[in-house]
Amino acid sequence: MRITFLPICCTVTTEAESGTVGQLAACLGLGPDQPCGGEGTCGKCRILAENANSFPTGAELQFLTPKELSDGFRLACQCPLEDGLVVSLGRAPEMKDRKIPKSDPGKRYARKPEPVVRKKIISLTGTRDNDPGTSLAEVLCTQTGTEDLRIPLELLKSLPGIFAKRKSAAAVFTNSRFIALEDEKTHGVFGVAIDIGTTSLVVWLVDLESATVLDTASELNPQTSFGADVLSRISVIQSRERGLEMLKDALLSSLNRMIATLARKNGLDTGSIYAAAVSGNTIMEHIFLGVDPSPIGRSPFIPVTRCTPSLKAESSGLDINPRGEIVMIPNISGFVGGDITAGVEASGMFRSSAITLFTDIGTNSEIVLGNRDFLLACSAAAGPAFEGARISHGMRAVNGAVERVAFQDGNVLLGVIGEKTPEGICGSGIVDLVAEMLRSGLIDKNGKFSDTSPDSRLHSRISNNPQGLKEFCLYEAGENKPGGIVFTQKDVREVQLAKGAIATGIQILLEKKDLKPGDLDRVVVAGAFGNYINMKNAVDMGILPKVSSEKIEYIGNSSVIGAFHALVSLKDYRLMKKIARKAEFVELSSRSDFQQRFLSNMSF
Ligand code: FES
Repeated sequence: MRITFLPICCTVTTEAESGTVGQLAACLGLGPDQPCGGEGTCGKCRILAENANSFPTGAELQFLTPKELSDGFRLACQCPLEDGLVVSLGRAPEMKDRKIPKSDPGKRYARKPEPVVRKKIISLTGTRDNDPGTSLAEVLCTQTGTEDLRIPLELLKSLPGIFAKRKSAAAVFTNSRFIALEDEKTHGVFGVAIDIGTTSLVVWLVDLESATVLDTASELNPQTSFGADVLSRISVIQSRERGLEMLKDALLSSLNRMIATLARKNGLDTGSIYAAAVSGNTIMEHIFLGVDPSPIGRSPFIPVTRCTPSLKAESSGLDINPRGEIVMIPNISGFVGGDITAGVEASGMFRSSAITLFTDIGTNSEIVLGNRDFLLACSAAAGPAFEGARISHGMRAVNGAVERVAFQDGNVLLGVIGEKTPEGICGSGIVDLVAEMLRSGLIDKNGKFSDTSPDSRLHSRISNNPQGLKEFCLYEAGENKPGGIVFTQKDVREVQLAKGAIATGIQILLEKKDLKPGDLDRVVVAGAFGNYINMKNAVDMGILPKVSSEKIEYIGNSSVIGAFHALVSLKDYRLMKKIARKAEFVELSSRSDFQQRFLSNMSF
């Protein structure tokens, strides 16, 4: 059968006799976002499907109005493949639209560098001393100031020719093996620091000799087409033939494209990129390695590997020098991954006596409490509310998303990404809105919409929807959003679930060390979401503990910063291994008191 995808105008011939438009589009890397992994529970995978003759499923009847259905709108994850379908992927968020924090070209490593891969100009004239007790291989080691480096057989074979022809060469080597002997005129030695987020991919191109970030790139993780969270990725692996390869291929093709673009922009050959440090949550790191992460998805939730030894680039599928080195940032547990190990290192908390709370807020919010003497870590299943999923008009932080909300004199002020007409609300806007609704008495401490509130103008925005649920009108109906943007009682409940999970995680870690929020010296917020939330509102809502604002600091994408450190400093990489070993993982859900604490922490 033939299916055409618009607006890219790509006609696909498939032999598949079953399956959905969403499955085919995801395999082709075309999107759209399918936040619930195609379960039909989020209603966010709308497409326009011309020539569709199939009957709408129950999920489509639930999420699409009769008018939308008659106009040809369908849900990608529900709409079956049919010959002659013309599918418009329409307003699926494009990668370039997505708001990802700007990182830091020009950033320089502040301590003494000790890169994963080094390059040194060496003299090849040592054999002329006529020492019969030496060898070409030993000359190589002596000249690089190393001992016992493994020399690959191909390089050994080429040594006689190289020593005969050249007086000097550039030796490229790690701390355990030689990689290459090159012409000394070839330029530098480079690496890439990679953060594989569940939602976003970030790559930094690094000059390993000067330990400087040359350039950066970010994209949406193409695996989002297979589901918003890590568990939906595991379910793809378990339920689909070649599911793991599909996810790995999608990931690698994006990473390789980003690396090639960065190299081209900076006048480099990808062959001069000799190292990569890869940081991500445990499931993303498993998928990158092509290792089935399924054991993490079932009790006792343990990963296949926590600390993967460095590997040769050619075995990873990453398009850098095939003899280069891949360093994987070690994981703490199945749900506290290398991204958090990297973050703890980057935050400096493990080098200091200051008691620090590190948080990375997302669908799984990871929390680490500690200092140089102890580390306690947990993962709070906050759910995807702050990614905009399961919120009536929630959306990712892309153009058209409301990212700021403030109430002023009865008016509602909105900040919209891309200065566009509002189309929905993203995580930072949700935090602002809920904090403002609490302050103005539109909702009470239990999250319930109030019958009255001091500001009648704001209160007049509350009405009952056709399902009898109260909702707050954030943005009046307009052309782009015929029903306007509303925030319902159910949406407030979703936020409470997220807030309750995070607050309970923080509370349990503090109590395990007999600490109170006031004992914290620092609260470090990491990750993309943390860049945009208003910290005061996050504290007022109870997502972050009640500490004075000067103790809270945002440190950016600490996962990629840690990966950068691992690339340019073996000392930092060794520290990350120590962090992963030393951190004590606290399993929240198995605690008998978890449910009761969670329920009480749902209150604001
Ligand atoms: S309803 Fe289709 S992905 Fe959620």
